[in-house]
Amino acid sequence: MAVQYHGQMSLQGEQTREWYERASKVLVNGVSSQFRYWGPDDTLVIDHGEGGHLIDMDGKHYIDYQCGFGPVILGHGDPDVWQAVTETAGQATSFAMTQRREVEAAEKVMAALEWPDAMRFTNTGTEATMHAIRLARGLTGRDVVIKFEGQYHGMHDYVLFSTAGVPVEGLGSRFRPIALQSSSGIPEPIRSLVRTLPFNDLELAERAFRDEGQRIAAVIVEPMLGNAFGIMPLPGFLEGLRRLCDENWSLLVFDEVKTGFRVAVGGACECFGVRPDIGTYAKAMGNGYPVAAIAMTDAVADGWRSSGIAQAGTYSGNGIASAAAAATVDKLSTGEPHARIEKVGRSLMEGLEKVMAERGVEGRATGHPSMFSLFFGEGGLDEFRDTSKHDEHLYESVLFKMIARGVMPCPDALEPWFVCAAHTDEDVAKTLQVFDESLAEALG
Ligand SMILES: Cc1ncc(COP(=O)(O)O)c(C=O)c1O
Repeated sequence: MAVQYHGQMSLQGEQTREWYERASKVLVNGVSSQFRYWGPDDTLVIDHGEGGHLIDMDGKHYIDYQCGFGPVILGHGDPDVWQAVTETAGQATSFAMTQRREVEAAEKVMAALEWPDAMRFTNTGTEATMHAIRLARGLTGRDVVIKFEGQYHGMHDYVLFSTAGVPVEGLGSRFRPIALQSSSGIPEPIRSLVRTLPFNDLELAERAFRDEGQRIAAVIVEPMLGNAFGIMPLPGFLEGLRRLCDENWSLLVFDEVKTGFRVAVGGACECFGVRPDIGTYAKAMGNGYPVAAIAMTDAVADGWRSSGIAQAGTYSGNGIASAAAAATVDKLSTGEPHARIEKVGRSLMEGLEKVMAERGVEGRATGHPSMFSLFFGEGGLDEFRDTSKHDEHLYESVLFKMIARGVMPCPDALEPWFVCAAHTDEDVAKTLQVFDESLAEALG
């Protein structure tokens, strides 16, 4: 995901460069998360956010389509979330006991999602998927987990295989995919517990279950590829996974860390009408505050209550995260933020496609209006392997020019553009104009 720009002017203004140098003296590569590192000349340091905008250390404004990699759904510094958090800060953080705000937040989260019967809070998406997998293994007594190529479920060892960062050429035959390790430092035996499959190919999933259904504890899936062009599930795919899990006594885990509360209040379950056994949520649930959750059916919760499956976290369910989640979910549940996001997202997708057509660039906007990508290429885009048809050099060149002009989607096309309810019609108009200028310049 690290993006290098070749032979372009630095994105850093004078102050931002000084701050980046300070950052580099204390933080490895000047960042606290590797995806924020864009090389020594282009890694930015942000001072603050306002609504749909970011302001860097030189006071330069950007229209922000990264939205913190997805969590910021209402806008930076949303007044209602801010008020809930500041009111809480003086009274409630960590008590080593269940607290009122945690219960209130869980009630609101469950009511908004509709499908779960029980949940537990965690702090990050990584923690949520890690616990979900342990839960599935503990309840089924099996060890093997199926995941899909191009999907990211966080930074723990069990899922860091064939994520969107790996080269497509290394994935091997579709009929015998190679589980490509996405990091050094993962113990070799872990690979034997992971099966990676192409997304949207139900026949291959059926075959995997025919081969070793009795060993499969869980299928973990992002219902749409939130880390690879927002590729959507083909009709019947998620339903097919549901059926396969039911037939084989395996658990279906929907990783809704990106889609939850974003593609709809009820996330992908609401959009696609398929229910998992376990769902993981984070990001848009808290508008940028570190809050996450594992949600589950009664059957899973019952099994958990009566078994020795461990889950804990000092900060899980803390007051501030709970207050942020409760305020965010309250606001999202009015329907207004999503109506706004849908309108802005659609205008952007249509407008960007129009500019591409006018400039003679093959491709299209893919995904959902709240999180979409721009595919510079021809042909179908149903699974991660298809992304090799994308012209990443042209895309990065255009995106670098856009960021220099004050419009900031992630320069990596795999990562969606995220829309928030604070983006304005003026933001859309400026974005389309800047995209047009940048594309024209990149095409020469
Ligand atoms: C689908 C999905 N699952 C899990 C994670 C990990 O979440 P976190 O970064 O909060 O650990 C991410 C992060 O982007 C994600 O996109």
